[in-house]
Amino acid sequence: MPRLLAKIVVIDPQNIDSAALEPVAKGIIARQLAAFPTETVYGLGADAFNSLAVAAIFAAKQRPMTDPVIVHIADMDDIAAVTDVSWQDLPPNALQLAQKFWPGPLTMILPRGARVPLVATAGKDTVAVRMPSHPVARALIRMAGVPLAAPSANRFGHISPTTAQHVADDLGTRIAWIVDGGPSQVGVESTIVDVTTSQPTLLRPGGVSAEELEAVLGEKLARPERFAVQANEAAPAPGMLLSHYAPEAKLLVFHHKHIDLAWRAALQEIAAQTKISRRVGALAPQEYLQQALAAGAAEAAVFGAVGDAALAAQSLYAGLRALDKAQVSLIVTAIGQTDGIALALQDRLWRAAGGIMLEVENDD
Ligand code: TXA
Ligand code: MG
Repeated sequence: MPRLLAKIVVIDPQNIDSAALEPVAKGIIARQLAAFPTETVYGLGADAFNSLAVAAIFAAKQRPMTDPVIVHIADMDDIAAVTDVSWQDLPPNALQLAQKFWPGPLTMILPRGARVPLVATAGKDTVAVRMPSHPVARALIRMAGVPLAAPSANRFGHISPTTAQHVADDLGTRIAWIVDGGPSQVGVESTIVDVTTSQPTLLRPGGVSAEELEAVLGEKLARPERFAVQANEAAPAPGMLLSHYAPEAKLLVFHHKHIDLAWRAALQEIAAQTKISRRVGALAPQEYLQQALAAGAAEAAVFGAVGDAALAAQSLYAGLRALDKAQVSLIVTAIGQTDGIALALQDRLWRAAGGIMLEVENDD
């Protein structure tokens, strides 16, 4: 029996066609799943107040029920509906962060409101809340009239999607709708901060840098020792599994604070692996694309430009997916400085490589 394919609805973020979006909003209220664009990555949305709809997300993604999802809102007034606390009554640090970074790529862990079913929070009394800035996401939330529970719209453990095509490739036969609002501009997931702890805690680096958050809070964020653990280790918070964001190909990530030294090692590796007949893909900044090909890489995908972490973030997932599509057996990449948004790049690449970062030695 042929499987049903998701209906793709293209919406121009600059000129939102409400009539085109309406059947998607109605579908959500009828418990259907709808992938939608956000500025970070595409989300797989369902009515956050409906436990059956939220459970369907886990089934479609094959995501363990122990990994809670983020609840997306459109307006400050929606905070009351998901936390049972009106936004004016949020703890001062949470209010400061909301006023400064919402809408945008920040998720805050807040007390769970009674209308949010436990399936969304993996049984916890806290809920992850985010107000995305993507106009299509906000229009859809408003039109549905409910917050949207939404993890990234990929199969569990796979690379997050930054285009509607990525979603279709992963989940096209498993969900009702895909809203195509163009490529995601940030390209890595939101930063997650737990504001229920006495000192706010950074749980996942992402689109807002830790430095920016600390500047607004006027204090350092607490950080877990590591942002991810092996499957058999106890995680300090849910969703910290190493097996995340992984391509099909094996991935090698070289690191040195001077990016040229990291790339020098990466190019040597590309040459060595090509010599033993491996089909190597390079995920390289513009400045290194030609050299990677000259070293023997069969394919090269662009990974931003040297010194521009925001551009690198934008192209990270699309690059990994393109190299998988080109059927390389090994992907080689490198990173330099890990401050600002580059901390998120380091985290995602480290997880995608199964927790291994190849530290390049100094010359001396
Ligand atoms: O940018 C993003 O955040 C994207 C877009 C779609 O908004 N969403 C996203 O969702 O990355 P997801 O499901 O891939 O990541 C959600 C993570 C969980 O894995 C977990 O680490 C954390 O959020 N989380 C959710 N609820 C939590 C809670 N109550 N306490 C601690 N962590 C929580
Ligand atoms: Mg995800």
